[in-house]
Amino acid sequence: MAIFSKKAKITQALPDDIVLPKHIGIIMDGNGRWAKKRGLPRTAGHSAGSSTFKKIARYCSDIGIKYLTVYAFSTENWRRPAEEIESLMKIFKSYMLEAIRDFKDDTIVVRFIGDTSKFSQELQDLMKETEQGSKDRAGMVLNIAVNYGGRAEIVTAIKNICADVNSGELDIDNINEQTVSDYLYTAGQPDPDLIIRPSGEYRTSNFLLWQSAYSEYVIMDDVLWPDFTKEDINSAIIEYSKRNRRYGGV
Ligand code: IPE
Ligand code: IPE
Ligand code: MG
Repeated sequence: MAIFSKKAKITQALPDDIVLPKHIGIIMDGNGRWAKKRGLPRTAGHSAGSSTFKKIARYCSDIGIKYLTVYAFSTENWRRPAEEIESLMKIFKSYMLEAIRDFKDDTIVVRFIGDTSKFSQELQDLMKETEQGSKDRAGMVLNIAVNYGGRAEIVTAIKNICADVNSGELDIDNINEQTVSDYLYTAGQPDPDLIIRPSGEYRTSNFLLWQSAYSEYVIMDDVLWPDFTKEDINSAIIEYSKRNRRYGGV
């Protein structure tokens, strides 16, 4: 993983001839530290982070990104205090109500990836409504990873593969890497080209483990997610465009 500091960048505007990543992943991290720095409760950081998310998702769609996957809540985030989880659920709910309200004039396809069965029935219904109402659009696919864990995703895929082998639908000899990809939440989508993590943690925290085998990581160590700007996305894309992706070749 490369460490990329905002201070080092020269330009923040995207050159016209830039090769855009088709799929960007973002680990939206640093909400709690952002709030702490301001003497606010962590929940204030999550609200601010939610506004940043809406702004950045819109911007990615505007500049022509085809797939955006954001990490909003991990399978490990249930370990947090009940009141923090409760406030995150409220934020998810208001995002979905807003997304449903804005459906008419939007082009973004919204999908929730993760084990959504652990959420309240109300939230699950809203997630389904949000997905249903946006599925026929032609715009950017926005995957919102909630109760998502890369390991859990792979375990679920293995179980489903085994079930299909048992029922005779799938032949063991035909299982290959593509088969595994086809059983993940992101089936049919290209793997992420670029994964961005603000707030300076140098780890994947269980995000898109299978899909990120050859993703380019840009860790930004001087910006917390609520402060993340369009210029920050631009600089991550510019950094990505300079990478030499060899995929094991020379
Ligand atoms: C990311 O920000 C949001 C979620 C994990 C839900 P954090 O809440 O992890 O913020 P820090 O890492 O404590 O600053
Ligand atoms: C990863 O951030 C999950 C999300 C951003 C939703 P965490 O803050 O949970 O990750 P760790 O605990 O620092 O690894
Ligand atoms: Mg964190």
